[in-house]
Amino acid sequence: MSKIYAIILAGGKGTRMGKDIPKQFLPLNGRSVLIRSIEKFHLIDMIDNIIVVLPEEYIKKFNSEIVNSSMDKVFKVVKGGKTRQGSVYNAVTSHNFNDKDILIFHDAARPFVDTHIIIKVIEAVRESGAAGTYIPAIDTISEIESGFVRSIPPREKLFYTQTPQAFLYKIILDAHKRALSMGIDNAADDVSLVIASGYKVKTVEGSPHNIKITTEDNYLYARYLSGHSNK
Ligand code: CTP
Ligand code: MG
Repeated sequence: MSKIYAIILAGGKGTRMGKDIPKQFLPLNGRSVLIRSIEKFHLIDMIDNIIVVLPEEYIKKFNSEIVNSSMDKVFKVVKGGKTRQGSVYNAVTSHNFNDKDILIFHDAARPFVDTHIIIKVIEAVRESGAAGTYIPAIDTISEIESGFVRSIPPREKLFYTQTPQAFLYKIILDAHKRALSMGIDNAADDVSLVIASGYKVKTVEGSPHNIKITTEDNYLYARYLSGHSNK
């Protein structure tokens, strides 16, 4: 029988945030960014198991935190890779999945994802084997090279990429193996690998609140969203 696994990607260092600890461990009104992200998936009945990818040096501490929580769907903690692509690959190869299992990937740094979006992504992956979350670009986006404007792609065609993204196990494994065989090991986005392997990826509308905490400004906004505005 096929299962649905959520894979929470928290293996990064948060370089752009520039804090002493990676951003996924920062507090948001009493709970860490990471725990908030995991909880969103834990609450969804359709999701059977959760895999958390972490920097190696944080695995021990996290294991004891999780034992003390009620999040019993967390069944595996996997060591992060040097790149996000490496972290995804470590998760994909961490368990004996079935070809028809669904793997739903989420950036730990996006703790405000809505339950209904996660469910829509699961419905879309069931229909088409691969799905991702996008929101329309608001600003006009310009391509600039050496200080000069090169082109202005039509805004109607441009979308911001969010997570979750979900794939059948056999599709994400195939896409990653193919990428590695071509020497690609630093893709920031799994969908790029999946479409390069010839699969179609269905789009689901995301939400402007589903921000990725990347910079100090994002963190301040995240604190505001979680009711922490005055500190
Ligand atoms: N990630 C990961 N393994 C990596 C790099 C990133 O699991 N080797 C995860 C991050 O923890 C984050 C998500 O992928 O939840 C999105 O990546 P990003 O926002 O780029 O996080 P970092 O790589 O940690 O930040 P930075 O690029 O500023 O160093
Ligand atoms: Mg990064």
